This record gives sequence, C-alpha cells and structure tokens, in this order.
Amino acid sequence: MYTDTHAHLQKEALKDSLENILNRAQAAGVTTIMCIGYDRASSEEAVQLAQKYPQIYAVVGVHPHDAKELDEDTLERLYQLAREPKVVAIGEIGLDFYRDLSPRDVQRQAFRQQIKLAQELGKPIVVHDRDAHQEVLDTIRQEKAGSNGGIMHCYSGHLPLAIDLMKEGFYISIAGPVSYKNARKTKEVAARIPLERLLIETDCPYLTPEPLRGKPNEPANVVYVAQTIAQLRRKPVEEIAYLTSRNAAEVYRL
Ligand code: NI
Repeated sequence: MYTDTHAHLQKEALKDSLENILNRAQAAGVTTIMCIGYDRASSEEAVQLAQKYPQIYAVVGVHPHDAKELDEDTLERLYQLAREPKVVAIGEIGLDFYRDLSPRDVQRQAFRQQIKLAQELGKPIVVHDRDAHQEVLDTIRQEKAGSNGGIMHCYSGHLPLAIDLMKEGFYISIAGPVSYKNARKTKEVAARIPLERLLIETDCPYLTPEPLRGKPNEPANVVYVAQTIAQLRRKPVEEIAYLTSRNAAEVYRL
C-alpha cells in the first residue's frame, strides 16, 4: 500500500477527472493521498476533498509564489481551516528564490507567520524550497519549525543538508525527478538517507516520473517513484511502500 504525500488534486488538470484518477490510484495500491493547498482557494478545496473522500487528507497553506496574498484575513481563515477534521499539516509554505513570484521579504514573512500558525496548532509543516536551501535551514533552526515534525517536499538538495534537516525533525519526501537520468544528487539522497525518514510523493499534476514523463501526473504514479528508490537501494518495492506509508502516518499523525 502506497501513500502519495503531496498531490494537488484541485488543479484543473486533475479536478475534472477526479473520480477516474482516484480509481486508478486505488487500483495501483495508493490508499492514502495528501491534498496540498497553495493559496486560500486551493486550501478550501483541499479540505472539501478530504471531507468527501476517506483516502484524502488535507494540508492548508499559502505557497511562497502566492505569499503576497497572505493578509490577516487569509491567515485567520487558514487558522479556522486547519482545525477542521482531516487537516493534517500546514503547507505548502517556504521560500522560492528561483521564480521569485512574490518579493523575497514577503516570502520570508509569510513563511514565518505560517510556521507560527503550525506551532500554535501543534501541527507539522510541509516545506517548499527552491534555490533557498541555506535560508530555509536557518529559518527552520531559528523558529524551531520542526518541533511538531516537518516534511521537505520534492527534496532537491544535497545529502548533508538532508541530514541537517532530519536533525531538526524533518522527513525527506522524494518525487518523480528521482527517476530522471540526470538526477544524480536526488538519486544519492534517495539511496542513502535513513529509511525511517523517507517519504514519497507525486507533486501531481507536475513532475511525472519515468517512464511516463511528458504525460500528466497523478497519484497512481507514486508507484514509479517507489520502484526507482527500491532499485537504488536494492530492496523490494513492497518494503519501500510499507516504510514510506508508515513514515507518512507517523509524521502526519493519521
Ligand atoms: Ni506542491
């Protein structure tokens, strides 16, 4: 049984055929899916989907791209949403200095505000980090942001950084790029981090793994992420499926 710890089922590409997508996930053995918010509307939708489908859990938060939308009113709404049943974490939050779609100071403030929200509620955080590795780590350390657990989503950093993050209470989530030929760094992380801190995800509709790269992504494809890791670690895929599902249940407190 597999857990896809990071899916955006609210995105147009998936929403229209959601029933088919969930059926294919079930047929592939994907029994648990975290639906991740990235702004106010998608956080509302994540909560609705979690209420409707037993296999879906919700994560609510504002992505660094949309950090400029995080005003007092939205923060208050996130606080309410986060207390609904089946809302298991705050995310995705973090810093994205690659696309810089919100000014960096605005991203920094939104990241810290939502870390505080998670701490008030005693929930883990789901972190997006693109080209901001050192500052994300520094922020996590300063704010003790892993005190209720945390997930580094679609991890793209080096192994030593992953180890530093694990010391702060974080789990490392590996997505489709691990299956790409040139992903040397991510393959090394997936092969060597302690299995008790490993998670798998699709980040669908993005980042479709091989051999389906180029097609739209969906939760059923998390199986290919698990298979790639199983090959790298020379372990049966069932063991990777079991351990990553157990880890997800632990950090998300299912
Ligand atoms: Ni995402």
